Amino acid sequence: MDIVDPAIEEYAEQHTTAETEALAHAADETRAHLDSPQMMVGPVAGRFLQTLVFATQASRVLEIGGFSGYSAISMAGGLPEGGKITSCEIDPERAAVARRHIEHAGFADRVDVVVGPALETISNLEGPFDLVFIDANKEGYIDYYEAVLPLLADTGLIVADNTLWSGRVLDDGDVDEGTAAIKGFNEHVVADERTVNVQLTVRDGMTLIRKA
Ligand SMILES: C[S@@+](CC[C@H](N)C(=O)[O-])C[C@H]1O[C@@H](n2cnc3c(N)ncnc32)[C@H](O)[C@@H]1O
Repeated sequence: MDIVDPAIEEYAEQHTTAETEALAHAADETRAHLDSPQMMVGPVAGRFLQTLVFATQASRVLEIGGFSGYSAISMAGGLPEGGKITSCEIDPERAAVARRHIEHAGFADRVDVVVGPALETISNLEGPFDLVFIDANKEGYIDYYEAVLPLLADTGLIVADNTLWSGRVLDDGDVDEGTAAIKGFNEHVVADERTVNVQLTVRDGMTLIRKA
């Protein structure tokens, strides 16, 4: 199911400030050389993430699931002077590609790509983080949320991607693992009195979460 009518999605993209050359380059290279290029957040959600970073003046950002660098480059463009992003990526080849794209974008000094399972990386990090973007394996979302909540600044924001999962969150009964994971995450978050959240229908669903 399309969350947003494709014609509206196209209109929204045409009326969003265009991708920078570096983002277009990263997207083209990803489509040409990597599997599953649709995992990139793309121009509208990328610009949205950048706007969140800029509007909140987030200077410490944590990304869980970096892939080829598209979302990290998007967010890096909104950082204030001295701001930094730590981007967790389990796959060394994807991490190497991300580093190349980040370097090409001129953001190598702002984005640190850390290779390894994100939970392990997070266990070695100190907070507070102003913005955390969760976009790795869906089965890990609740664990990532629980791991980053203690590291979140009091006015910080967690952004979770793909929380409408192509509409499969509406499926009942015997659902696949990814659908079950996203549905479980959404239930976990909305029931959590420690936080306040809003589920947005941007792209594949993005949930913004803050401390209560
Ligand atoms: C949806 S993609 C991220 C897309 C990226 N945020 C973007 O918009 O360009 C998810 C990424 O998470 C990585 N990943 C999966 N499991 C992980 C784990 N346990 N720790 C860190 N990264 C993981 C995958 O290798 C994949 O590159």
